[in-house]
Amino acid sequence: MSILNNTSIQPVTNLLDTGSVAPPSYSKSERTQLRAKIKQLLNEKDAVLVAHYYVDAEIQELAEETGGTVADSLEMARFGTNHPASTLVVAGVRFMGETAKILNPEKTVIMPTLQAECSLDISAPIEEFSRFCDENPDRTVVVYANTSAAVKARADWVVTSSNAVAIIEHLREKGEKVLWAPDKHLGEYIQQKTGADMLIWDGACVVHEAFKSDTLENLRKHYPEAAVLVHPESPMGVVAQADVVGSTTRLIQAVTELPNSQFIVATDNGIFHKMKQVAGDKQLIEAPTAGVGATCESCAHCPWMAMNSLNNLTSALEGMNNEIIIDEATRKKAIQPLLKMLSFNEKPGKSQPH
Ligand code: 13P
Ligand code: SF4
Repeated sequence: MSILNNTSIQPVTNLLDTGSVAPPSYSKSERTQLRAKIKQLLNEKDAVLVAHYYVDAEIQELAEETGGTVADSLEMARFGTNHPASTLVVAGVRFMGETAKILNPEKTVIMPTLQAECSLDISAPIEEFSRFCDENPDRTVVVYANTSAAVKARADWVVTSSNAVAIIEHLREKGEKVLWAPDKHLGEYIQQKTGADMLIWDGACVVHEAFKSDTLENLRKHYPEAAVLVHPESPMGVVAQADVVGSTTRLIQAVTELPNSQFIVATDNGIFHKMKQVAGDKQLIEAPTAGVGATCESCAHCPWMAMNSLNNLTSALEGMNNEIIIDEATRKKAIQPLLKMLSFNEKPGKSQPH
């Protein structure tokens, strides 16, 4: 059963209010100075940089050059818990900073900006989500990592795109019915893969929702040899055309593992930086969105991820600003479903959706 919950949730396209997010452009010497300053500050503050594949390429490079990491949301969560630094600097969106804080209460967690949200997180306000859970007490509550600490605190399980299919398959085998939030496209994909009985919240990612199946079909005619790589936050018509569906890490792996020399990629184009690093000889083609000037609000780049810059990273570190604070009662509840996910993932062969 797949029931889309049509409560009074706003369409996500109305929720995009990121203010001015145009990335700053730096001269070569400014960039060199900022990079050197950030390296020095990371050292002085006993801090490590944990970045997502969608952020600015220079921030990704800095993370790697300074002993931090560039990763998907699951690995970002894991990295912080295994690293000795007393401060985690999370370059991504707020739920990633919150996850780091929930798992590492003894550490200071700061972000370049606290305004970097996520349309999925925004689409599930805690009051409405709690009501939905209360109305369906017979269901196991499974939420995507792209949610607030309060929503995680209401859940039985947290999952990421790396382990969502495996965890829900596990719940289905145990005969459990699932309440899923907030990404309807990922929910439908998991439901199709596992056959689980899922009640699905009506949220979507503004970036992935913009990929279009008809224009993708046309593009594939131009590149018949290309493999199609799709993040499962994309609509079903796009997912249906994929050779590989998976987390950001899985898609990067696919570029190195598959023999194809051309790839059509349906996810945020920030990922191209890592893909080029690991497979510079391959041709990477952006999957089509509605296009600039049409209804596209993201055009394959997350406006909130784009808020992370060398400038605000520097000032966050200088002043130890933009700290993530979570009240202890919420944190203690939210850590339970996160720990369940991390220990599920430690079981061999449980991490990837295929
Ligand atoms: P991953 O966990 O696959 O990196 O996805 C996070 C995300 O926000 C994708 O839009
Ligand atoms: Fe959220 Fe989509 Fe941005 Fe990922 S790309 S952080 S799901 S809005």
